[in-house]
Amino acid sequence: MPEVELRNVSKRFGRIVAVNTTNLKIEDGEYLSIVGPSGCGKTTLVKMISGVWEPSEGDVLIDGKKVNVVPTEDRDLGYVFQSIALFPHMTVWENTVYSPLVKDKSENERKSIGEDSLRLVNLLEKKGLFPSQLSGGAQQKVGLARALSSKAKLLILDEPLSALDARVRIDLRYELRKLVKRLGLTAIHVTHDQEEALSVADRTVVMRKGRIVEMGSPRQLYERPRHPFTANFVGEGNFLEGNIKSTSDNWCFVELRNQQFLSVRPTVARAGESVILFIRPENLRFTKEFKANALPGTVEDVQFVGSYLRYKVMLETEDIALIDLQIPHERINAGERVMVEFDPTDTIVYQRPPEGLREL
Ligand SMILES: Nc1ncnc2c1ncn2[C@@H]1O[C@H](COP(=O)(O)OP(=O)(O)OP(=O)(O)O)[C@@H](O)[C@H]1O
Ligand SMILES: [Mg+2]
Repeated sequence: MPEVELRNVSKRFGRIVAVNTTNLKIEDGEYLSIVGPSGCGKTTLVKMISGVWEPSEGDVLIDGKKVNVVPTEDRDLGYVFQSIALFPHMTVWENTVYSPLVKDKSENERKSIGEDSLRLVNLLEKKGLFPSQLSGGAQQKVGLARALSSKAKLLILDEPLSALDARVRIDLRYELRKLVKRLGLTAIHVTHDQEEALSVADRTVVMRKGRIVEMGSPRQLYERPRHPFTANFVGEGNFLEGNIKSTSDNWCFVELRNQQFLSVRPTVARAGESVILFIRPENLRFTKEFKANALPGTVEDVQFVGSYLRYKVMLETEDIALIDLQIPHERINAGERVMVEFDPTDTIVYQRPPEGLREL
């Protein structure tokens, strides 16, 4: 059964270190997603797992066996490339059943495998067309069908849904996860789309500049990111800069700019240290009274975002706070003075990274 491990793996292209001394273990039957900004090394990482690249250093293991130089075709995996790589001279059907054909499956087996895969992506009726006759999104679906037809237990999906429109993308990611779980596959799914990464996977890896910043369950990454980069990259949030004034077992008193204070949960940071506070827009509220843990500010902008309104508030601390409030609620207009309440349990404290907030 496919269990994948990277041990101190690096990949260099000349002077570029695309993946830097990375360790990662993917359990058998696990659905893992990988997110990170463009160029952080996601594709390079999965290309080493799939055998397109050999690591410059370190080892790739599949089921405990070192496979650094084993070619892709001998690794028994289904691979959806980031750039759609269909065979242009073959029809949708021939592309889809390519792997079962190479593996000498009988005609009946090929028919059943190919039909199942194409049905999943809703393209059975297009099986006679050539890739050039399909839209980009449909080509990507054929790429997915072709990977599924390999019947491999390990699926590597590099931005498999990026060319599809939003609605289809959501349906298909749900179907993909269901299928992976039903068949007991191990899946590694690279995506730019943070919502896709969180909703499809059992565990998510966040990468930055060739390294893994953090990995954890989607919920942990969203609700309790351990690293401010994750907080900033996965979902949206507000950062406030400050200094720890005092700490106790139960509280940590933070001085923000403009001599305003918030109490938050205790942290490893000590009195005098620079910190950043992080809170998600849906965890902030307006309050009418002056009370502890409420900061004054002025509403700059109100946006309609479907089921909620997003308020942009300029706080007196000179930080901007984004606040999402479900509709209906008592509407506040741009220009109004407000108090924004911070619940200490939803506010996360990070030591200020040496490079500041700009690098997040
Ligand atoms: N064949 C190559 N030759 C030289 N440099 C490369 C090659 N492949 C990747 N790189 C470089 O390695 C780094 C990581 O690239 P990679 O494609 O892995 O990023 P990515 O996270 O997949 O980005 P994206 O989200 O845009 O797909 C980049 O700086 C890229 O330019
Ligand atoms: Mg990529």
